[in-house]
Amino acid sequence: MQQSCLVGQELINKFIEFGKTSKANIVRSCGYIKYDRYGNAVPDFTTFYNNLLTANGLLISNQNESNTDGTEYVIAQPLLEQSLNELENLIGLSSIKKEVHEIISLTKIIQERRFHGLSNDSNSRHMVFQGPPGTGKTTVARIIGKLYKSLSVLSKGHFVEVDRNKLIGRYIGQTTHKTYKLLERASGGVLFIDEAYSLSKSWGDNQSDPYGEEAIEILLKFMEDFRDDLIVIVAGYPNLMESFLKSNPGLKSRFSTYISFPNYTEDELLKILIKKAFQSGYILSKDSKPIIDQIIKIHMANKKENNGNARSMRNLLDLAIKKQAFRLMQKVSRSKEELMRLTSQDFHLSEIELTNL
Ligand SMILES: Nc1ncnc2c1ncn2[C@@H]1O[C@H](COP(=O)(O)OP(=O)(O)OP(=O)(O)O)[C@@H](O)[C@H]1O
Ligand SMILES: [Mg+2]
Repeated sequence: MQQSCLVGQELINKFIEFGKTSKANIVRSCGYIKYDRYGNAVPDFTTFYNNLLTANGLLISNQNESNTDGTEYVIAQPLLEQSLNELENLIGLSSIKKEVHEIISLTKIIQERRFHGLSNDSNSRHMVFQGPPGTGKTTVARIIGKLYKSLSVLSKGHFVEVDRNKLIGRYIGQTTHKTYKLLERASGGVLFIDEAYSLSKSWGDNQSDPYGEEAIEILLKFMEDFRDDLIVIVAGYPNLMESFLKSNPGLKSRFSTYISFPNYTEDELLKILIKKAFQSGYILSKDSKPIIDQIIKIHMANKKENNGNARSMRNLLDLAIKKQAFRLMQKVSRSKEELMRLTSQDFHLSEIELTNL
């Protein structure tokens, strides 16, 4: 949407007249303005430079055009900082935090390169999150949406979580409709597919699964066509994710980033419990530490290979809160401090409670 742009000698004169000011100011003042995807007026560098070169008699061909989009990427600093804080505040996950910082750097560099007209193979941002339950996959995926929104990569950054039931219809044809609708809803943000292998026929009894295949085919097409404003994250157990990605030749190549979520350690689980308690307005008394340590040890031994589940700490906290309430109700009145404190008594779990953590 250009309005009375300067061209030819007038453009050159204005350009010379400006001296030291920002490039964006010069471009705007010469009338070169376009509208970005949010409707904001931004300087139209591409047309400006082309016209300046033409005015100077220097433009021979427009071979650079395809590489340059001249878009100024606006980084929403408060949202970026908020999302990074959320990430930093998660207990552990050091390799994942490092990976996310690398992704942010790559995104910023790609944007700067595009701004300067440097070539940039538009690489896919779709991701695979591999890890057992409760290791932070959904939590991190939500943060990724906000981060990409803050970097102007995604237009909305919202989060749509789906599983097989939400994508698959009850008859052939209905799946196309359901999957399409969900992809449309997710566009501009993150589509998070939990236990993605449930979509593939190699899951379960190895029977053919036309519904799952139908969903995957649409997914593949959407992931390619809308990759500039949609991030698909598939998540689940590592070995099952491997067979899911092998189940369709197009799948593996669509994903560029693989992130592995390890089980939390004993120490990390304890920190997660303390943090969750604090967030809910509770503190753990010193005397509760030995019994909590013991609970975590037994729980980890029971769960074997999936023994680092942060959700079990939420369950443990809920049980302790219930037991504290019962304990406090035996008293005539309660102080604020008592209402906040969880003591060792509140962590005396029954066998069945411990098994079901
Ligand atoms: N590093 C962490 N620090 C604090 N809380 C965490 C952390 N990781 C996970 N949690 C908490 O644990 C719970 C489970 O996390 P989340 O849902 O992200 O796990 P998940 O890997 O997606 O699990 P699932 O595979 O079962 O869907 C959430 O309440 C989340 O807030
Ligand atoms: Mg999850």
